[in-house]
Amino acid sequence: MSRAHRKNEHIYHSLKKRMSRADFKDISFIHNCLPNMAFNQVSLKTEYMGRTYRSPLFINAITGGSQMAYRINSALADVARVCNMPMAVGSQMAAFEDSSCTDSFTIARKNNPGGEVWANLGTYASPEMASKAVKMLNADALQIHINVPQELVMKGGDRDFRDMSNRIKKVVNNIEVPVIAKEVGFGVAREQAEALLKAGVSAIDVGGRGGTNFIAIEGSRSGRYIPESLLEWGIPTAISLIETVETIKGRIDIFASGGMNNALDIARALSLGAKAVGLAAMPLNTLVKYGRRTLIKKIYDLENELKLIMMMTGSSSIAGLQKAPLVITGFTSEWLERRGINSDNYARRSLV
Ligand SMILES: Cc1cc2nc3c(=O)[nH]c(=O)nc-3n(C[C@H](O)[C@H](O)[C@H](O)COP(=O)(O)O)c2cc1C
Repeated sequence: MSRAHRKNEHIYHSLKKRMSRADFKDISFIHNCLPNMAFNQVSLKTEYMGRTYRSPLFINAITGGSQMAYRINSALADVARVCNMPMAVGSQMAAFEDSSCTDSFTIARKNNPGGEVWANLGTYASPEMASKAVKMLNADALQIHINVPQELVMKGGDRDFRDMSNRIKKVVNNIEVPVIAKEVGFGVAREQAEALLKAGVSAIDVGGRGGTNFIAIEGSRSGRYIPESLLEWGIPTAISLIETVETIKGRIDIFASGGMNNALDIARALSLGAKAVGLAAMPLNTLVKYGRRTLIKKIYDLENELKLIMMMTGSSSIAGLQKAPLVITGFTSEWLERRGINSDNYARRSLV
């Protein structure tokens, strides 16, 4: 099967599945009845990888490599330009295998010449491939995706993952732009966050369980039965985020993704320490089913709702939101305790 065909199948099977939401229900804000500020003072500005951004939202890697991918990336780039938000393309390996599909990636830059565009490759990438991918888009950063469970379930997927951390390190040491290591929906644990930090990446996108599930997508593609044990695999986004934030302790930037399509969950993720939040299934679904104007409206609605939530916690900035008390209960709290992380610190921190 050609890579273009596989890319189209990923889109098709992702659209067929009900969009799911990350599990942040164990994490609660405390209502602040005396915020002492005006709504127009609330700012969504965030800083990461040495730059300031209008909003913490970005369009995560989705596609490239086919005619359909060209149309989707073209529309997503329009949305990214209008909303002034970063956008990542899907894996550019497709363009290395068949240069005739290069325009399905470069359209993301063509439609958004002054915007922020991120290149994307897997951990198999050599420093030469990484430089080529960045050059192709005049990209501002490179995402390296980490997707072992997907490869294991995919018919004909990779089986050899030796030396992954070293390969990431080699790429980091040989390219000019910041490197973002991203999981695609199974999460990053504190031990691997430490390894990625050592590899020298500028940011980790925890890509946790709760949104797009590539074991399920590969199962639908192949028509084969996938056991429940595999469908439930992965670290939930909220837990992965806390483990990573607690390990990294501000040394590099952390992003949250994996089922982040609800403003309250986005606020919770930012409060837990994420500098940015990646959206994939939501923009893909909204764009294909309702068009780019609806997607733009949805992004602005999410941002407005996020500001309302910040106001109700008494936070006028994301830095403020990161000091707002958060009560962590249930399974999440128990998990953190077993892993040596004290969730009481979040409940007792203070805005002042
Ligand atoms: C159809 C589809 C294709 C994807 N292709 C890529 C890819 O090529 N490279 C990559 O890093 N992530 C890819 N992703 C993963 C997303 O970037 C994201 O990590 C994951 O979907 C979790 O976010 P979500 O729950 O918001 O969808 C893809 C996601 C979807 C839905």
